[in-house]
Amino acid sequence: MKKLIGAMLACLMAGSLMAAQGQITTESGGVKSLRNSADLAVEAPAAQLKNFRKDGDLYDRQYMHQPPLVPHDIRNYEIDTKVNKCLACHSFKNASVMKAPKISPTHFEARDGMTLGEVSPRRYFCLQCHVPQADAKPLVGNSFKPVEALN
Ligand code: HEC
Ligand code: HEC
Repeated sequence: MKKLIGAMLACLMAGSLMAAQGQITTESGGVKSLRNSADLAVEAPAAQLKNFRKDGDLYDRQYMHQPPLVPHDIRNYEIDTKVNKCLACHSFKNASVMKAPKISPTHFEARDGMTLGEVSPRRYFCLQCHVPQADAKPLVGNSFKPVEALN
């Protein structure tokens, strides 16, 4: 009987400990982060979508081999295993008719250095590397400067 009461007490204590920990993890304690001071258990409101620059200007590249930013709207452009909307304009075949810049030969290189006859799987999902241009403040401050050669 004594043993049983002991075990029950231990269970109760473990339970209240867990409850206390639960409280700590659901409150931000006033700490502000990128999701502001929303409690962890609460869905923070989504940040507003940034507008594309409409002036038609291109942002300069900041370092060698930077994937250029996308200077046009891409809303609803489908990219999956069957369709790649980007290639409808940017493939070698379609680029001149669509008056769009061609993807460069690096987009045909597989990771073992072979050059393929099709866009390489590792360059198929364009938005992995190319992001649309937006006049957005950096989320975290930094002192990055473009390399000399690009100034
Ligand atoms: C309807 C045709 C069309 C489609 C579809 C399209 N683009 Fe473009 N893209 C262009 C044109 C034209 C330009 C040249 C700049 C301009 O006129 O906006 C361009 C420019 C770019 C550039 C800048 C290239 C450079 O050298 O600076 C990138 C990167 C790019 N597009 C990526 C994409 C991606 C990624 C997608 C798919 C999500 C896509 N584009 C879909 C027509 C298209
Ligand atoms: C793994 C990253 C990556 C992916 C994925 C990728 N690109 Fe690129 N892209 C780059 C880089 C890096 C450059 C600039 C250097 C170069 O040409 O390789 C570039 C350059 C370009 C350019 C400019 C070419 C030029 O001659 O200046 C266009 C247009 C472009 N990409 C379109 C696309 C499209 C469309 C897709 C999807 C089919 C795509 N990219 C997928 C990294 C990527």
